[in-house]
Amino acid sequence: MAFPERVRIVEMGPRDGLQNEKAVVPTDVKVALVERLADSGLPAVEAGAFVSPRWVPQMADTAEVLARIRRRPGTMYPVLVPNEKGLEAALAAGVEEVAVFGAASESFSRKNINCSIAESLDRFRPVAARAREAGLRVRGYVSCVLGCPYEGEVDPARVAEVAGALAGMGCYEVSLGDTIGVGTPAKARAMVQAVSATVPVDRLALHFHDTYGQALANILACLELGVAVVDSSVAGLGGCPYAKGASGNVATEDVLYMLHGMGIATGADLDAVAAIGSWISAKLGRENGSRVGRALAARDVAATAG
Ligand code: HMG
Ligand code: MG
Repeated sequence: MAFPERVRIVEMGPRDGLQNEKAVVPTDVKVALVERLADSGLPAVEAGAFVSPRWVPQMADTAEVLARIRRRPGTMYPVLVPNEKGLEAALAAGVEEVAVFGAASESFSRKNINCSIAESLDRFRPVAARAREAGLRVRGYVSCVLGCPYEGEVDPARVAEVAGALAGMGCYEVSLGDTIGVGTPAKARAMVQAVSATVPVDRLALHFHDTYGQALANILACLELGVAVVDSSVAGLGGCPYAKGASGNVATEDVLYMLHGMGIATGADLDAVAAIGSWISAKLGRENGSRVGRALAARDVAATAG
């Protein structure tokens, strides 16, 4: 199968990226990050999470971030909601899209959201129904689709089952999370093929963390199957607080460079995203996790010196 002509990027930096930062990130910085990412042409910027502040303190100011950002018409600003309480907060903040998040591994489900997979699905069903009644779009995540930090190998059939349940409760799209970035291309393809028997590829997204440096290769392998939505994080920010040692999502800059180089449109401005990556890395005092971001910054320095 040919590659898609256009890929939709769902930017994860302000949520998946910042949720794992040790130092407190000021709300001002989060607001600027979300606004700049949206201005770069990215169609969706996940803006935060209405989760327990005791579990994930970094997301405690999500309501304030949403209240303060200038919202660009046409840009989506989804937020995570694990339960009814999260949905209440999301509705009060006037969001247009929420995401529920489950897992294909029992141990991860318990560590991340303190309940079994079956309990989580029972909890999500009324949340999704109510969100949809209120006119919101609902996205679903499945974590540990290519491996679990506690259980190791994960059966693609289990991923398909959870993805099917999320699609069945009204999620317009199911994002497949390689939470710990252990997948390799043939396994990623096999997993997507297994899931696509239950949820059609045009309702699937790829959410690959880059711990083992395989994310781009895995994305390429899955784009060939017809998936056309990719989650990524500026400067490769992030990780999961409940998956120790996992690094961030694949960097947005790296994905854009690959896709644009292949003639695949995204609507985003790579140079603008790279500048945001350099800026946020400096703000957080961490090395820029994007290879492309580092290369473009070095090119710009060389151009200025020359
Ligand atoms: P629990 O302790 O079982 O919940 O946590 P509870 O209902 O018993 O409530 C306990 C306390 O939390 C109560 O407060 C509630 O009010 C409060 P208290 O009375 O003790 O003061 N609470 C809330 N507060 C704010 N917002 C809420 C909320 N719900 C309850 N929505 C719970 C269960 C799900 C709440 C908790 O485990 C939690 O918040 N987990 C979130 C973990 C998380 O955010 N993980 C990272 C995101 S997932 C991820 O990164 C993976 C992904 O990127 C895909 C991939 O890479 O695989 C999406
Ligand atoms: Mg993630």
